[in-house]
Amino acid sequence: MRFYREITLADGEVIVLRSLEKQDAGAAIFCLRQTSGETEFLLREVSECGMTIAQEEEVIKRKNDEKRGMLLGVFAGDALIGMAGLNACGAFERVRHRASIGISLLRAYWGRGIGTAMMHALIDAAKDAGYEQIELDVVEENKRALALYQRLGFKVAGHMPRAMKYRDGRYAALTLMVLSL
Ligand SMILES: CC(C)(COP(=O)(O)OP(=O)(O)OC[C@H]1O[C@@H](n2cnc3c(N)ncnc32)[C@H](O)[C@@H]1OP(=O)(O)O)[C@@H](O)C(=O)NCCC(=O)NCCS
Repeated sequence: MRFYREITLADGEVIVLRSLEKQDAGAAIFCLRQTSGETEFLLREVSECGMTIAQEEEVIKRKNDEKRGMLLGVFAGDALIGMAGLNACGAFERVRHRASIGISLLRAYWGRGIGTAMMHALIDAAKDAGYEQIELDVVEENKRALALYQRLGFKVAGHMPRAMKYRDGRYAALTLMVLSL
């Protein structure tokens, strides 16, 4: 599914949230590498962001073709500064009411309300797609993201200890959260 929305930040800057298109593949890989290197709160090591343009184009096409999933880019002018995904939790009838989401934004743009706008876009799209609940998991130490999700009504649904392991041997636990739509 596709999405388009313009938002105006408190300082007047206009940000566009729209589905990624084939021509955004290179920027999407760059953005993924950049965000993955800027925080320990995402899933991938930077060295695991090595997909080719062709592979990324295929991911974008598949997402746009899905009826109940999307891959959103966040644009400041021509620059891709963040990405967000809406995904079905599964294809079987018994889980068709559940969606999962993820968001990331370049550090330089944190704290200006863009993450909140990304979440509103995902929530609205999930409602349009007929989902009944949105699920996510967040690294326990990620206080900024936790505060954002709680402010939007997400409730803590669980705790997964040692869910991620860093290269230096440290573990991180995940907090599981759910929003009823
Ligand atoms: C999570 C993320 C998308 C938030 O984006 P953002 O644009 O900074 O979010 P917003 O500016 O809309 O809101 C952040 C909120 O957290 C609050 N906040 C910031 N730091 C905080 C902290 N240490 N403790 C509590 N709250 C905090 C801010 O005050 C703000 O709330 P407010 O609007 O009520 O003031 C962004 O930080 C990011 O991409 N982080 C790295 C990737 C990531 O963690 N993704 C989520 C994985 S689950």
